[in-house]
Amino acid sequence: MEGRKMCLLGFLVSLVLMRVVGGAEVKGLASCNFPAAYNFGDSNSDTGAASAAFGPLQPPNGQTFFGKPAGRSCDGRLIIDFIAEELGISYLSPYLDSVGSNFSHGANFAYGGSTIRRQTWINSNPFHLAVQTTQFSELKARTFDIYSQGKDMSRLLRPEDFSKALYTLDIGQNDVYISMFGAPPSVIPEMINNFTAAVQGLYDQGGRAFWIHNIGPNGCLPAAQLNILNRTQETFDKNGCINRWNERVMEFNRQLKDRVIKLRAELPEAAITYVDVYTAKYNLISNAKNLGFTEPLKQCLVGTKDGKVAAICDNPSTYISWDGMHYTEAANHFVAKSIINGSLSDPPVSIANACHKNV
Ligand SMILES: *[C@@H]1O[C@H](CO)[C@@H](O)[C@H](O)[C@H]1NC(C)=O
Ligand SMILES: *[C@@H]1O[C@H](CO)[C@@H](O)[C@H](O)[C@H]1NC(C)=O
Ligand SMILES: *[C@@H]1O[C@H](CO)[C@@H](O)[C@H](O)[C@H]1NC(C)=O
Ligand SMILES: *[C@@H]1O[C@H](CO)[C@@H](O)[C@H](O)[C@H]1NC(C)=O
Repeated sequence: MEGRKMCLLGFLVSLVLMRVVGGAEVKGLASCNFPAAYNFGDSNSDTGAASAAFGPLQPPNGQTFFGKPAGRSCDGRLIIDFIAEELGISYLSPYLDSVGSNFSHGANFAYGGSTIRRQTWINSNPFHLAVQTTQFSELKARTFDIYSQGKDMSRLLRPEDFSKALYTLDIGQNDVYISMFGAPPSVIPEMINNFTAAVQGLYDQGGRAFWIHNIGPNGCLPAAQLNILNRTQETFDKNGCINRWNERVMEFNRQLKDRVIKLRAELPEAAITYVDVYTAKYNLISNAKNLGFTEPLKQCLVGTKDGKVAAICDNPSTYISWDGMHYTEAANHFVAKSIINGSLSDPPVSIANACHKNV
């Protein structure tokens, strides 16, 4: 009896020690074993939705990993693909892809060009965040319906697993992309509002574990550099990134983090992790040379003409930017490694532990 008590005490002490010794990262938590992931976002995590709608992307997209275009604006895997690998589930099928999709381990609602806010201009992208969460509700309702009829479930998640899944969000870059949509700072409260409504809606549908990426440094994107209307009106930081653009992003990120912290009280059964992707991407850009990336502000693909690429760099793995707007697989891999263990998260839990509250 006494021995068992000592044993338990030792176990508790070692849990405490692990938390202290582990520094930023919270150790000693059981893995959540997420059976599925549902992702919401823009082209940074689109695994084929826009290409299902508009036709396949052209080579050399996909060449590094898939050997052919794979619906991703990248030479290979996106951060969401590395996340799927980490969780031990297959790559997420785009919800909009009607051929060969398999939603037994989740689905991807991300769509290239999407924003958090509803877009109102002509020819705008219809798949803003609220549409993506509506699509999720539809997928869930139809899954329950098919299950209740006892039909083939081999491509669908079991109903009881929806609340055990990880819900990942990576969206907002297009809302605050300055030259494209103007994006005055006054859009930020609406973005925060609409983002919060989306998380609340997923919670109401049973979602309990949320993994929320903030927005990366838009001012360091080669496409942004090319979009400057009047260079003398901008200032640049030590890495050559446009200050005004990054300040806009950082202001959004600051407000998002504040709101996420409040949401934890409003959604008491949810575990909500805020992930500082901005810092991961900015660290990569500022330490590029040491990390083997020789061209931090240049893009691998250049000179697209009639939808075809005119030139590709010799070695995409030494570039951070693939096409000016999207990161290369090598850069995505670095960012994924930086965020997966939780050292850039609030609270500092790794993605495998992101179902635990109050850590
Ligand atoms: C769907 O994917 C799951 C997990 O990878 C797999 O077990 C299942 O067999 C797949 N279903 C079909 C119909 O291919
Ligand atoms: C987005 O936010 C605006 C302004 O706060 C609000 O009017 C609109 O209803 C919101 N839309 C959604 C889908 O949350
Ligand atoms: C760029 O901005 C500067 C400072 O406001 C102004 O003097 C200059 O005329 C502008 N150049 C162009 C081409 O608009
Ligand atoms: C998390 O991973 C990054 C990148 O591999 C590493 O630099 C960092 O030290 C790790 N942090 C912890 C707390 O393990």
